[in-house]
Amino acid sequence: KTVFLINGPNLNLLGKREPAIYGADTLDDVTARCEALANPVGITLRSMQSNHEGQIIDWIHEARDAAKAIIINPGAFTHTSVAIFDALQAFEGFVFEVHISNVHKREAFRHHSYVSARADGVLAGFGVEGYELALRRVISVLG
Ligand code: DQA
Repeated sequence: KTVFLINGPNLNLLGKREPAIYGADTLDDVTARCEALANPVGITLRSMQSNHEGQIIDWIHEARDAAKAIIINPGAFTHTSVAIFDALQAFEGFVFEVHISNVHKREAFRHHSYVSARADGVLAGFGVEGYELALRRVISVLG
């Protein structure tokens, strides 16, 4: 069973960017912790990050044949991208949306998510632990 962990724009700077909001852990730290959860239960985690909307869409298309679930933090594309929503609509597996910060406590432009209308579950404000929590949910729904 393969799960795609997709991170969108600026999340390559995790641990360096606005640490008061996003924390000190890097994306590699997050990926390592998720792999430690996934590997013992036979899940292959493929972690990817891009600052480019089209690349994220291409990965979601690839997931149609390659993955049973997608955990996605679309970064700011959450609030702008009908195209990512459409790509996720064409994916038949589970989709879990993760935001490190509580977007609802922040600027009004972060309150709406195009992705939430497709997601099976949404986590916001659990810090980088949100990725592991989402993965735990994936493990239980995939059985
Ligand atoms: C984010 C929240 C978004 O509003 C922001 O643009 C990000 C990160 C989060 O993880 O809290 O880049 O998705």
